[in-house]
Amino acid sequence: MAKIKVHYFSPTGGTLQVVRLMAEALDRMLHVGVEYHSYTLPTGREVLPVFDAGDIVLWATPVYAGRIPNKTLDYVRAAIHANGNPSIALVTFGNRAYDNALAELVGLMKEGGMKPVGAAAMVTRHAFSDTLGAGRPSAEDIAALDHFAAQVAERLSTFNAQLLTVSVPGEAHPEKYYTPLKVGNAPAGFLEAKPACNSALCTRCGKCLDVCPMGSIGEKDGMPTFDGICIKCQACRRRCPTGAIAFTDPEYLSHVAMIERTFAAPKRAEFYVAGTTHSR
Ligand SMILES: Cc1cc2nc3c(=O)[nH]c(=O)nc-3n(C[C@H](O)[C@H](O)[C@H](O)COP(=O)(O)O)c2cc1C
Ligand code: SF4
Ligand code: SF4
Repeated sequence: MAKIKVHYFSPTGGTLQVVRLMAEALDRMLHVGVEYHSYTLPTGREVLPVFDAGDIVLWATPVYAGRIPNKTLDYVRAAIHANGNPSIALVTFGNRAYDNALAELVGLMKEGGMKPVGAAAMVTRHAFSDTLGAGRPSAEDIAALDHFAAQVAERLSTFNAQLLTVSVPGEAHPEKYYTPLKVGNAPAGFLEAKPACNSALCTRCGKCLDVCPMGSIGEKDGMPTFDGICIKCQACRRRCPTGAIAFTDPEYLSHVAMIERTFAAPKRAEFYVAGTTHSR
């Protein structure tokens, strides 16, 4: 049976919160049922999805450095394949900018044989910060998302293969990622930064051990060890109930201070629907 098939990457939960709101709003109108698939953990990327005729694909990803997170890109490119299925692209961003991420996702959908009919960029809490994007999505964001879902449902009710696909701002094939800056605007070099665990605060509860999208957290005497690639997603830090996990790299901390100062003013969510002009 055709369904709304939701695929999402969400290390710290903001993207899941938003995509759930969108899927539920759509299903209140379409009554087809929703199926969720997380590709956040490595196990969620082991098998490629199969989309049945009539499935509506809702794909959601956070924005990392202005694009689709680069360590997920190969999987996303391989997984976004369908036979003319209608799709909706959703990106979440932490109140700096979504740059080329939405165009990249919509571009992959078109190249993979989907028909993107709607696209949205929603502000969520920035994983790096407790102030940037705090409290988002707001009641106003959720009302706007409901309105978007109604517009998309209306497009889907008259869906056919000749339907126009959505246009969004940005480049579908961006070459570069956003370069993070420090306070004072010099580039912040924290590519190699990793979290550390404070043994005095760690209660050995094990909650952080299974949350890493890169499978990079090991364990020694009940405490986490950070062994492999770190994409700075903050899942482990935010999962820890005692605040034992922190990033102390000065370049990283200076970048966080810079974005908190520069991007404090709330950005608006943006919505795009095939065959209409830009709405917010
Ligand atoms: C490594 C990294 C890079 C990010 N880059 C951006 C960015 O370029 N622009 C922006 O506004 N937010 C950026 N963010 C914030 C995330 O897009 C935002 O926190 C998102 O909600 C995280 O999704 P999640 O809660 O599902 O993990 C970044 C977050 C991380 C972890
Ligand atoms: S180790 Fe790095 S990649 Fe893994 S959960 Fe922690 S912040 Fe994310
Ligand atoms: S979640 Fe925090 S307290 Fe629990 S094991 Fe991990 S670092 Fe230690």
